[in-house]
Amino acid sequence: MRVLITGGTGYIGSHIAVDLIDAGHDVELLDNLDNSSAVVVDRIETITGSRPTFHNVDLCDAAATDFVFACAVDSKAPLDAVIHCAGLKAVGESVEKPMEYYRNNVGGTLNLLEAMRAHGTTRIVFSSSATVYGDPQFLPITESHPILATNPYGRTKAHIEDILVDVATAHDNWHVVLLRYFNPVGAHPSGTIGEDPQGTPNNLVPRLFEVACGKWDSITIWGRDWDTPDGTGVRDYIHVTDLASGHRAAIESLDDLPAVTTVNLGTGRGYSVMEVVEAVRHASGHPVPTSDRERRPGDVASSVADPALAFELLGWKADRDLVEMCTDSWRWRSQNPDGYR
Ligand code: WQD
Repeated sequence: MRVLITGGTGYIGSHIAVDLIDAGHDVELLDNLDNSSAVVVDRIETITGSRPTFHNVDLCDAAATDFVFACAVDSKAPLDAVIHCAGLKAVGESVEKPMEYYRNNVGGTLNLLEAMRAHGTTRIVFSSSATVYGDPQFLPITESHPILATNPYGRTKAHIEDILVDVATAHDNWHVVLLRYFNPVGAHPSGTIGEDPQGTPNNLVPRLFEVACGKWDSITIWGRDWDTPDGTGVRDYIHVTDLASGHRAAIESLDDLPAVTTVNLGTGRGYSVMEVVEAVRHASGHPVPTSDRERRPGDVASSVADPALAFELLGWKADRDLVEMCTDSWRWRSQNPDGYR
């Protein structure tokens, strides 16, 4: 299939691109490079031997977005599908800048959908997030869990899901898959692409590896009094290459699925903060000192997926464990201490 990945030079998008190219798909990338580097296109070519077409475009620019699809039609035929990863994704930042998040994430998606409709592309896989579930009312979390997003970032994801449902309802030839990611971590086993956060990361795993690389003296543990086995937060970490293969499964199943399909992408196995700290210590050989603080505002005790529906509908499940996630992350960080810079 001929697939356009928005956010294609980003952490998740680049791993999806490698997976799809390796599986024989024809991939194009679209990205505004606000939170990624064009070097990623070179790295994808290094890994796969194939250089994807790269469109340096911002989805908030409707004309430029439309032009990407028009060119596709002129050159061959309409793009077969879109994997939509582009978007702002920092929870804390979304609380400070809600208008930017709605403009960029929701407004950009509307431009994308207009361009798709205008040029005959009717298949889309959307990068959603477990954040839409808010504070879990039950565990493990199934796709039927109520949507209780508690921050603007999570609400942009929930609103985009609703928009896609409405579009698929209005146009019976559209096919939509909504993928709700849990906590993506890790890197491609080659160490050639990986997570390269701009500025200081808020997420646990990239922050831990910055400590292991000597950038920080210690890691802050946000709360040891959660109702969990060791008192620290429990999350469902999923290897980014498993996440990527989940997108391929969705793309390749699209035409055999109902108009709109929603699945969790998680492992079903939760790990506590301290289990992850120990795994990073083991992978890096660094002591990774910790310092305890009170709970982080907005945090929840546990968030773990029920992954059964993804296996039932897409024939997909995650294969990699925490050791592989940390080993692959450390290889990426060791080979690229300054990321793509
Ligand atoms: C994990 C655990 C923290 C940092 C976020 C977004 C979510 C999704 C994934 C986009 C928690 C603890 C963290 C630190 C710590 N992103 N922690 N010290 O909050 O589960 O999810 O990233 O879709 O939308 O909300 O991930 O990595 O920030 O935190 O103790 O320095 O690690 O309290 O228990 P989170 P996280």
